[in-house]
Amino acid sequence: MLVLGIESSCDETGVALYDTERGLVGNQLHTQMAMHAEYGGVVPELASRDHIRRLVPLTQACLAEAGKNYADIDAVAYTQGPGLGGALLAGTAYANALAFALGKPVVPVHHLEGHLLSPLLAEDQPAFPFVALLVSGGHTQFMAVRGIGDYTLLGESVDDAAGEAFDKTAKLLGLPYPGGAKLSELAKAGEAGRFEFPRPMLHSGDLQMSFSGLKTSVLTAVEKARAEYGNRLPEDVRNSICRAFQEAVVEVLTAKAKAALLQTGFRRLVVAGGVGANWQLRQALSQLRVRPAPKAPAEAVQTYFPPLSLCTDNGAMIAFAGAMRVRDAETAAAFSVRPRWPLTEICS
Ligand code: KG4
Ligand code: ZN
Repeated sequence: MLVLGIESSCDETGVALYDTERGLVGNQLHTQMAMHAEYGGVVPELASRDHIRRLVPLTQACLAEAGKNYADIDAVAYTQGPGLGGALLAGTAYANALAFALGKPVVPVHHLEGHLLSPLLAEDQPAFPFVALLVSGGHTQFMAVRGIGDYTLLGESVDDAAGEAFDKTAKLLGLPYPGGAKLSELAKAGEAGRFEFPRPMLHSGDLQMSFSGLKTSVLTAVEKARAEYGNRLPEDVRNSICRAFQEAVVEVLTAKAKAALLQTGFRRLVVAGGVGANWQLRQALSQLRVRPAPKAPAEAVQTYFPPLSLCTDNGAMIAFAGAMRVRDAETAAAFSVRPRWPLTEICS
């Protein structure tokens, strides 16, 4: 069975073909990052219009890459939500129209299920069950994943997502959007321990997190440093602020990941989402060990970092999740999008 996957929930247009016999046979992506950079953030209306422009050429390129024709498609999967309403509508309308024209069924997919299942597309696949840390610009969540459709939300950020905190902190340091990756680069040259920021909710006793206060602490430190050094901070000061911010985020995520593994009893951790590219987070999570009781021996954890192309938004994860959920296929007809859609609603 050949499933076409359409992703358009935010600022990436993704189109992919997943063959249930042969795996991923086509995967095309267009990122709008450069277009939104001018505005310092995603402009929803521009995002929707650009998705409309890209969907047809990307589908044609994807079919060409796979050596297939429209007639070979058996089902069309698309991101129904959550995401930006207009952006979702572009992909949803396209997917339904295409399926209607081809006389094939459509499979509405939950964007976060796509992320959760994306590690199964990597060469080194985790076996079920695993703890998934979904850490992107829009989400910071720990999920227990026991199988397809069997997900439990263990905890999440109560305010900003970790990636959002990276981007906002980068912005207040004067770095161009989206500044998360740049901030993490500068942190490499920073002096560890020169600045110290709080670890919000580190000891909350649950798996909830908070990152918006951290950004405020950085702002206070930046203002203080500017009063001392002038508006343009010396590089070593700026880099050390980046380092301290990153260390605070990484420490919270690592401690909560440990707690999630202990709570579930699982020993596999999968990291998905753009912040999974962060070098310090990768370092900390790949060395993770857990001690189930104070005097028990430390146990190894297998940590999986799927390739970044599968971590960030893409059509492949939607085609794959669609193939796994083909039993939920519908006849293309009237459609709707779900900009706000809790993942718990799709658990069986
Ligand atoms: O998963 P993603 O591509 O998009 C969604 O948010 O859905 O994640 C993008 C986020 C942005 O906030 C970006 O700043 C952050 O991931 N990011 C990073 C790094 N690379 C990307 N954050 C920290 N360190 C990085 N190296
Ligand atoms: Zn996403």
